[in-house]
Amino acid sequence: MIVLGIESSCDETAAAVVKDGRELLSSVVQSQVDIHAEYGGVVPEVAARSHIEVINPVIRQAMQEANVTWDDIDAIAVANAPGLIGSLLVGCLAAATLAKLHNKPLYPVHHVEGHIYANFITKKSDNIPYSLPKTSPTFPMLALAVSGLHSQLVLFEDHGKYRLLGETLDDAVGEAYDKVAKILGLPYPGGPSIAKAAANGDPKKYTLPRAKLQNAYDFSFSGLKTAVLRAVQREVGVDHTFPSFKLSERLNKEQQADFAASFQYIANDTLVRATLKAYQEFTPSSVVIAGGVAANQELRRQLSEALPITIDYAPIQLCTDNGAMIAALGYYQSKVVPPTNPDDLAVRPSISMTETAWASEAQK
Ligand code: KG4
Ligand code: ZN
Repeated sequence: MIVLGIESSCDETAAAVVKDGRELLSSVVQSQVDIHAEYGGVVPEVAARSHIEVINPVIRQAMQEANVTWDDIDAIAVANAPGLIGSLLVGCLAAATLAKLHNKPLYPVHHVEGHIYANFITKKSDNIPYSLPKTSPTFPMLALAVSGLHSQLVLFEDHGKYRLLGETLDDAVGEAYDKVAKILGLPYPGGPSIAKAAANGDPKKYTLPRAKLQNAYDFSFSGLKTAVLRAVQREVGVDHTFPSFKLSERLNKEQQADFAASFQYIANDTLVRATLKAYQEFTPSSVVIAGGVAANQELRRQLSEALPITIDYAPIQLCTDNGAMIAALGYYQSKVVPPTNPDDLAVRPSISMTETAWASEAQK
């Protein structure tokens, strides 16, 4: 079964073609990073407009690269939740229109759950330049989903059957990366620029706090972000109130690198500790990480060092937003739930993955 996956929930317009939920035939991602970098973050209105400009060419390119025509496509999957409403609408409108026009079944997919399903992609055609995990994860599967909007630990019993063990009570970890980068004067997007700066820094230079929460599987990153701000103010001896570039201008390269490394270490360590605890309690047969922050090499190193299980990580290209993860999940959904009528496709900007129609159907 060949599925076209469409993703437009934030600032990447993406489409991909995936066979049987695991074989990647093409994946095209048009990032808006350069457009938003000027503003230091995603501007929702601007994001929606640029999705409109590129959505059709991106879909066309994905089909060309996969060497498929509409006759070959068996279904369309699209991220309809969660994300920026204007951005989600563009992908959903494109998907619904194409489903109607070409008479294809349509599957709405939850973006965060999609991130997790990137780990099921283990085969590819020769035109894909990166390597993939050798085998798909097995159940029970523990998933750490860490993106710009979400930080969640989820225990999967089977496809669609899962339980949210914990989640962030305030900022997502990716959001913390982005905000700390701003405090340190590092460019947007913050995750990759913190990782780059941290490579030259000392992770033990600054002692930063770990949040203590009632549920060991919940996260909180807002206090850590503030702790970095206060530590920077102390270090430079001036308490310029953030947001102010005056603060970061007083940091030299070495201090900037040390702050980046110290923050990265403690943020990742928080994720690793919770994942290790869940691993010990539930003894899953596989562990996966997903979402933009899963691209962080230090997180992978720290996690692999702590966990007594080998993790076959997905390539960076499938950790950040992409259409392949949407197509992969769409395939599994199509085995359980009926397709959605294109006229009834609704965007759900803020629902959790446990609240989708597919999740409740699969639980039965
Ligand atoms: O999954 P994603 O592409 O979009 C959302 O669904 O949010 O994740 C984006 C987040 C951003 O916060 C970005 O700073 C972070 O992932 N990120 C990283 C890295 N690459 C992207 N964080 C840490 N290290 C990275 N290498
Ligand atoms: Zn994402």
